[in-house]
Amino acid sequence: MSNMHTSNTIDEVKSQLTKIREQGLSIGFVPTMGALHKGHLTLIKEARKENDFVVCSIFVNPIQFNNKTDLKKYPRNIELDMNMLQKEKCDLLFYPSEDEMLSTYQVEEFDFGGLDQVMEGKFRPGHFQGVATIVKRLFEIIEPQRAYFGMKDYQQLVIIHKTMKDNNLPVEIVPCSTIREKDGLAMSSRNQLLSKVERKQAATIYKVLKKTKIHSGFYTVNEIKQYVEAQFEKSKNFKLEYIEITDMYTLKPLKAWTQSNNVIACIAIQVGNVRLIDNIILFS
Ligand code: PAJ
Repeated sequence: MSNMHTSNTIDEVKSQLTKIREQGLSIGFVPTMGALHKGHLTLIKEARKENDFVVCSIFVNPIQFNNKTDLKKYPRNIELDMNMLQKEKCDLLFYPSEDEMLSTYQVEEFDFGGLDQVMEGKFRPGHFQGVATIVKRLFEIIEPQRAYFGMKDYQQLVIIHKTMKDNNLPVEIVPCSTIREKDGLAMSSRNQLLSKVERKQAATIYKVLKKTKIHSGFYTVNEIKQYVEAQFEKSKNFKLEYIEITDMYTLKPLKAWTQSNNVIACIAIQVGNVRLIDNIILFS
């Protein structure tokens, strides 16, 4: 098995990748915050299929956390992560320190054209400015042909896509389907913070989303939202933050089904102390 190289500095990664580009090889990139699971690994697999050289980054990005406790308790397992990446034949892991990434960074103010006024953007002030700043910085360091993002973080995917287009960064953004546990729960690094009971209850999230899809032809947008709210009032372990039904491209919340031909339902909910998000395409 070829050995994956791990690099902690921007200079080293840049000089390694210059050599790769000089050989005419294509570079596929998967940015992550580590605590890797099968969802992340499918992004690596996709990148492996479509590129000559695969780069993964692990960086728990403090500037995208609006909540200090969330940042503090974010799971970190670098040894396990490195083993998994090696098994997936990732070629290069970029694993920088906070200093390396942030000591010279400048706060960028992106104009997301309203895409950040709803859902995650509304409930986590500054979150997408932090995400876009770090992703843009990573793209400038890695200069990949393609970068892989999960549909699980749907709003992030749409916002990154727009940011790259607006900034003329020549990176193809490749969306990848959400990978789920057997009971339907979307895989997430945060799932390991759930207690046994909470983990079991968390399966309700996708069950309810699937019901919204079935019901979407029969009920109004408002009725569906009320249905979802009612499902999560049944246990005090759930605190629903939002259920939003939006256009897939503008992310504008709908009042009536006729307002869009491409519709997605997105949810954010606290299960115990753990905040989880998920979504389902209702029709497109
Ligand atoms: P992180 O949450 O580690 O996710 C890294 C990538 O994996 C994202 O593109 C995310 O959508 C994808 N992913 C997570 N769970 C998935 C699942 N169950 N199925 C498919 N893909 C999944 O998202 C981030 O990190 C950060 O915001 C980042 C983009 C790295 C910027 O800091």
